[in-house]
Amino acid sequence: MKVSIGADHGGFELKEKVISHLIDQGIDVTDQGTYGTDSVDFPDYSKKVTENVQNKISDLGILICGTGIGMSIAANKQKGIRAALVGDVFSAKATRKHNNSNVLCLGARVTGEGLALMIVDTWLNAEFEGGRHENRIAKIEEL
Ligand code: RB5
Repeated sequence: MKVSIGADHGGFELKEKVISHLIDQGIDVTDQGTYGTDSVDFPDYSKKVTENVQNKISDLGILICGTGIGMSIAANKQKGIRAALVGDVFSAKATRKHNNSNVLCLGARVTGEGLALMIVDTWLNAEFEGGRHENRIAKIEEL
């Protein structure tokens, strides 16, 4: 599995922890930055990660900012991107099963490291159920 990941300054530290966690599991990670804590604009990093998903360079994307809200708003502007801001394990599983989300957004100032890593694992390991959800996703694409 190939995962592209990006963050702004608010999400940088959690991004580094998520990257180590994914590499430990043998997951192929593309780090799209930012690479430090200097202030940057989150849409620049959302664009890099969502383009990797759109172009199928990566299977899935992970975006982290302070709240995860800005990243999710920006990511969902991109065609074919279904970005889910997740702060609990139930939603992490449900959004893969029902929404076939292809980008996970996390809020580093909201969600602690332990829970964030559990959310990442749950999201990556859940699978889209298809069926009745296909039609709903098609309707999203038509919007
Ligand atoms: C940056 O200060 C902060 O606004 C950003 O990380 C994010 O929370 C935006 O939604």
